[in-house]
Amino acid sequence: MTALLSTTGLEMRYGAVHALRGVDFEINPGELVALVGDNGAGKSTFVKALSGVIQPTAGTISCDGRPVAAHSPATARDLGIETVYQDLGLCENLTVAENIYLGREPTLGWGPWRRVDRRRMAAEVAQALGGLSVNVPPPDAKVAQLSGGQRQAVAISRCRLWRRRLVLLDEPTAALGVQESERVVATIGDLRGDGAAILLISHDIPMVMRLADRIVVLRKGAKAADLPADGVTEHDIVALITGAKERHHA
Ligand SMILES: Nc1ncnc2c1ncn2[C@@H]1O[C@H](COP(=O)(O)OP(=O)(O)OP(=O)(O)O)[C@@H](O)[C@H]1O
Ligand SMILES: [Mg+2]
Repeated sequence: MTALLSTTGLEMRYGAVHALRGVDFEINPGELVALVGDNGAGKSTFVKALSGVIQPTAGTISCDGRPVAAHSPATARDLGIETVYQDLGLCENLTVAENIYLGREPTLGWGPWRRVDRRRMAAEVAQALGGLSVNVPPPDAKVAQLSGGQRQAVAISRCRLWRRRLVLLDEPTAALGVQESERVVATIGDLRGDGAAILLISHDIPMVMRLADRIVVLRKGAKAADLPADGVTEHDIVALITGAKERHHA
């Protein structure tokens, strides 16, 4: 199978900080890969490189087996990649529906008569939110009024509505309570049901083991392990994260 997205020798230096050290990685269509590692291991940096937000200092990113030249957030969007960031990137003062569309609003008419098609927006949003296993706020609620779990649901709904092929989730359940985390897990399940591949970053190892097909461990910017989630224990993962266990590839 051709990987949906892959990297070879990915490097990122922020001045003296060597944040990514030659990372080789791949994710296949429909696969859920968890990316784990200690604070500062390079996880968010890796996600930002895949989403085109930062330019890696060396290495290649390929989509469907073809190298992506001049990767940017716009090319990522064209390739069907969407990111839900650690700090979410929702606009507080906009409504749920406006956040889901953000810059992609359907329009009616043309030229000076062009206007946002609010009726179509409302119908599509209701459909995208309605199919979720989570209680979601009404489309016209302001994001500022939502709980952390509801915000995650909105961010993930955006990925569903746009039929993304690959969704990058950077710590979607950090700072959420147990119940809210469970709701986000249910939303991730909905996304998988749509056939999307997911790269999930989390410090919650039990959750990672429950959801992932494969687990990739980053340590100090380098890939320390890449193994199927079946058959590994929580203890193994923690040992790989901290470096108590030696390099191990599936
Ligand atoms: N914009 C930046 N400028 C300079 N250094 C940076 C920048 N962003 C990240 N770093 C450094 O790169 C390294 C990797 O950071 P990154 O945010 O990718 O880690 P992480 O694995 O996501 O950690 P966490 O689990 O805490 O979110 C760290 O040493 C960090 O200080
Ligand atoms: Mg991070």
